[in-house]
Amino acid sequence: MTTTATLGLYGLGTMGSALALNILDKGFALHVSNRSAEAVPDFVEEARGEGLAADLHGAESLEAMVKAMDAPRAIILMVPSGKPVDATIDTLMPLLDKGDTIIDAGNSDFRETRARTKTVEDAGLTYIGMGVSGGEEGARHGPSIMVGGTPEAWDAVRPVIEAISAKFEGAPCADHLGPDGAGHFVKTVHNGIEYADMQLIAEVYGLMRYGRGDAPAAIGKVFEGWNDGPLDSYLVEITGKVLQATDRETGKSAVDVILDAAGQKGTGRWTAIEAIRMGKSASIIEAAVGGRALSSEVAVRAAGEDIFGAARGPIEVSDDDLHDALLVGRILSYAQGFRILEAASEEFDWSIDMARTAEVWRAGCIIRSVLLDDIATAFRSDLPHGQLVFAPAMVTRLQEALPALRRVVCAAATQGHAAPALSSALSFVDTLRHARGTADVIQAQRDFFGRHGFVRLDGREDQHGPWWG
Ligand code: 6PG
Repeated sequence: MTTTATLGLYGLGTMGSALALNILDKGFALHVSNRSAEAVPDFVEEARGEGLAADLHGAESLEAMVKAMDAPRAIILMVPSGKPVDATIDTLMPLLDKGDTIIDAGNSDFRETRARTKTVEDAGLTYIGMGVSGGEEGARHGPSIMVGGTPEAWDAVRPVIEAISAKFEGAPCADHLGPDGAGHFVKTVHNGIEYADMQLIAEVYGLMRYGRGDAPAAIGKVFEGWNDGPLDSYLVEITGKVLQATDRETGKSAVDVILDAAGQKGTGRWTAIEAIRMGKSASIIEAAVGGRALSSEVAVRAAGEDIFGAARGPIEVSDDDLHDALLVGRILSYAQGFRILEAASEEFDWSIDMARTAEVWRAGCIIRSVLLDDIATAFRSDLPHGQLVFAPAMVTRLQEALPALRRVVCAAATQGHAAPALSSALSFVDTLRHARGTADVIQAQRDFFGRHGFVRLDGREDQHGPWWG
């Protein structure tokens, strides 16, 4: 297959190699290279083993790769985000010709992508910031791809990007979602939702395990069953598998030999930071980021258990209630994610299409789930007050499942089980249901200590309370 540009890929790590094989598999010619040159012949060998090396050209350096490529070129960077991306761009720019395109396919900070877009485009080159989701398996067989750049840049690479992407009922899960940093921002929010969903699932597991005393494998079976219904999703599916797996060394359940401290590369945290900066509540995502942070304080938690005594008591919650609680948490996590996307789209003038975003997430990515199809449909209708949670299909689901979330959070709180994401989900939706909340008191306090003034119910602004005489 041909494209308007000669394709190159730099960075043959796990994800880079998988994406390169995917490109070759779809019939495109490809030039590859890597920072440490030894990886190149190894990769060529691997591709040959899969019968994919006919149109593959390995080069020992980035310079050699660019030289071997006819212009116009499109070079995909699969290098770690941050400084390595800048270093690679610095090396690349003097080697390229006007009309060539650099595509950063890593998990880059969208602000860095915006700055790089300007630098690269000022030099007469084209820049694309491309979010790619789906892990190694996705990269190899079809990831979800979120593209940021100019429409012209997108048109030039569209055939290859669509060909390598995941498909939902035949439609590519790849699209141009806006200019410069838009693609990387959408990927960042995807990861924020990913953090929230993972935390919600882990909390539900925790209640079954430490509240009901269920064995991991039995819990895994329940998750397996849930994957056939409204919770059908990649994360529920893999959780079912993970919980039913046995450690080869000890014969114990695999999760029981894993340290309960989760790392993070930063995208979930960036989502929370951007949400706070824009004044949008991302409480479930924040709970998930905070949960991971506290998880890594293993010694402090052990000391806490010694000092205060172990908190967790037995609870009685049904599978059905846990199912519904997870469903509500998931809907609200998506809703928070889309609210952040909408706020950023407005602030940066990106015009991100929310329905298309939901559609691009329907297959290939980590947060893929059957719900996203309903969410895409909801975004295509007139949303009351522009809120996804007010879409009739979401309202029906939430009304049905909310009592279960309330019972689950009550049981967890009463018996001392930490469930920060589930609790945040409940507080978020309850807050949305208070036509009159409690910020009147906050306004009064601000006025009391700092004469900040408040708005009266009749609309008069800059009013002061009787405490000022
Ligand atoms: C994806 C994932 C991926 C991410 C890992 C690890 O969409 O394929 O989001 O991009 O790098 O999930 O992320 P953390 O280290 O932050 O958990």
